[in-house]
Amino acid sequence: MKKIIIAIDGFSSCGKSTMAKDLAREIGYIYIDSGAMYRAVTLYCLQNNLIKDGVVNEPELLPRMEQIQISFVLNPGTGKPETCLNGQNVETEIRTLEVSQNVSYVSAIAFVRKAMVAQQQQMGMQKGIVMDGRDIGTTVFPTAELKIFVTASPEIRAQRRFDEMIQKNEVASFDEILENVKHRDYLDQNREESPLRQAKDALLLDNSHMTIAEQKQWLLAQFQRVAEN
Ligand code: DC
Repeated sequence: MKKIIIAIDGFSSCGKSTMAKDLAREIGYIYIDSGAMYRAVTLYCLQNNLIKDGVVNEPELLPRMEQIQISFVLNPGTGKPETCLNGQNVETEIRTLEVSQNVSYVSAIAFVRKAMVAQQQQMGMQKGIVMDGRDIGTTVFPTAELKIFVTASPEIRAQRRFDEMIQKNEVASFDEILENVKHRDYLDQNREESPLRQAKDALLLDNSHMTIAEQKQWLLAQFQRVAEN
């Protein structure tokens, strides 16, 4: 079986990370959550007062990009990778609503994308990687052997995120989350730099009415079809 690159793109909160993580574990590949990288840069901006009312202080951020080191560590308890910003585990901090509300502004900046894409391409040099995001099949790995584009209705995605937050005992409002999901869809699809698009050769997966198990089975079958050829 050959080692391949698997690119999973799609809208926010449609379960990309869960399916990508599961697949990677199952087939022994490295999993990279590229959205977590943009979230970590956003957290850095918030911590350093470089963002206010959706406006990023780009002249201040640009020279600091070199100081922003993002890495992943495996949590031995859960077996899942967690995000570190300059050596500090920030997995919880990058999932807050405040980061979610600001990440689209940060991820729209050309020099931020350039830095993240370079790091992501480096991570895929040896193949054997599953990466999820918005531009993995179009920009980061345009020649990836397997590309999936995932979608689900905004209401279903908001409900999933709401359930996730309630489970973590976080304060959440469904309407606020739905608004955030729709707003992010708009920003992701309409930004100038690498807007969210389905790559021509990507397979479409609408998981609105699929269980996680069904999805997993479908994805594994796609992997086997491509990797065994
Ligand atoms: O997948 P996520 O919701 O954690 O992603 C966070 C944000 O980062 C999302 O608003 C879009 C952006 N993003 C991006 O622009 N490019 C990627 N490859 C991954 C995420």
